[in-house]
Amino acid sequence: MKELSQKVTQAPKSKIRELFDLASGRSDVISLGIGQPDFLTPQPAIQGNIEALNKNITTYAPTRGVPELLQLLESKLTKVNEIQASWEDNIILTNGGSGAITLAYASIFNPGDELIISSPNFVSYYYCGIFFGVKVIEIERNNDFSPNIEKIKNAVTDKTKAILINSPNNPTGYALERKELEELVDIVIENDLYLISDEVYENYVYDGLKQVSPASLNGMFERTITLNAMSKLFSATGFRLGYVVASKEIIDLMSVYTTYTVAGTNHAAQYGFIEALKMDTRFFIDILRQFDERRLLVYNRLKGMGFDVVKPKGSFYIMPSAKNFNMTGTEFSREIIKSKGVAIVPGDIFGSYSNDKLRISYATEFGKLKEAMDRIEDFVKTI
Ligand SMILES: Cc1ncc(COP(=O)(O)O)c(C=O)c1O
Repeated sequence: MKELSQKVTQAPKSKIRELFDLASGRSDVISLGIGQPDFLTPQPAIQGNIEALNKNITTYAPTRGVPELLQLLESKLTKVNEIQASWEDNIILTNGGSGAITLAYASIFNPGDELIISSPNFVSYYYCGIFFGVKVIEIERNNDFSPNIEKIKNAVTDKTKAILINSPNNPTGYALERKELEELVDIVIENDLYLISDEVYENYVYDGLKQVSPASLNGMFERTITLNAMSKLFSATGFRLGYVVASKEIIDLMSVYTTYTVAGTNHAAQYGFIEALKMDTRFFIDILRQFDERRLLVYNRLKGMGFDVVKPKGSFYIMPSAKNFNMTGTEFSREIIKSKGVAIVPGDIFGSYSNDKLRISYATEFGKLKEAMDRIEDFVKTI
C-alpha cells in the first residue's frame, strides 16, 4: 500500500488514552486526568438543545452560526471582555475550542511560517503546527510558569507570523498578569505579528486576578484572534461549540474554510448555547469557590509531600515536578496508577521542558481529591 499522510502520522496517539488503558477494568481508580469540569451542564443549555430538536431544527446551520447566538456573543464580548466586535463581521462559531484552534491556523499561516509559544503548553498547538506546515518555536517558561518575555522577544525572526498565548493555562495553571500581557502585546505590535489568544478558561481565575483579553487593548483588535468555547464555563465539552473573534478579513477566510471542511456546527446545540448565554453568570460563583477550595487542597498537600510545585493562578490544573522523587513524569504516572489507582497525566505530552512534570486536573469532587492526595502521599513515602 502507498504511504499515508506523513503530517498526520507524525502526531502520536494520545498518551492519556494509554494511561486510561492501564486503568481499564479497575473500579478503584481515581482520575485526575480529565479536562472536563465535573458539574452538570446547566439545565437551560440542555432544554434549549432539546426544544430546538423538537422544533425539527435538524438542518444545516448558517456557516458562521445562528444570528441570535452571534448577537448574544457580541454583547457578552462587550460586557465581559471589553472587546468591540460586530456579530455580522467578527465572530464565527466553531466545533469547540479545538475547532477554533484549527481555524486560527488555517486562516493565517503559510508553510514555513513560525509560531512562538511558551512551553509546557496545550497539546493541539504543536500538532496543528505539523498539519499546517507551521514551525512551532517553544520557549521555556520561567520557573513560576510565567512566560519568558525576553526569550520570546529574541525568538522573533522574519518568518515569525504569530505568538500564541493561553491564559489561564492548560497544563500549568498559570494566568497572565496585565503587565505581562502588555509586554507581549508590545512585541506583537513592534514586529507586526498576530496574537492568538486561547481564552477557554477565562472564568477560572483565583485570588481576585482579573482576566484581560488582548483584543480589548489599544491597537490590538485587528491583530488578535481570540479563541473561546462553551466547553469549560458551562461544563459542556460534548456540545462541541466554540467561537473565534477576529477581524472581518480573517473571519471571512474562516467561513470559507468552514464551508469546505465541516460545513458549520451542530445547529440544535447552538440553541442550547443561546440559552446558556442568557443565564445569569452568577451561577458560576459557587462553582468557582469549590474549584478554589480544590486548588488550595491540592497545592498544599503536594507541597507538604515534598513536590516542587507552583501555586496555580487559573484554570483547573496544577503541574508538579516528580524530580524530588528521582522520577520522570512518565515513570511517576505509570507507578501511581499501577500501585495506587490514581490516574495522572505525564507532563511530557505538553511539549518540551516538561519531562519531569505531571499534570493534575482538580476538576474532581473534593472527597475524591482528598482520597487521591492520601494515596499519592502513601506512594511517595515508599520511594
Ligand atoms: C487550552 C485549551 N484550548 C482548547 C481546548 C479545546 O476545547 P474544546 O474541548 O472546546 O474543543 C482545550 C481543552 O481542554 C484546552 O485546554
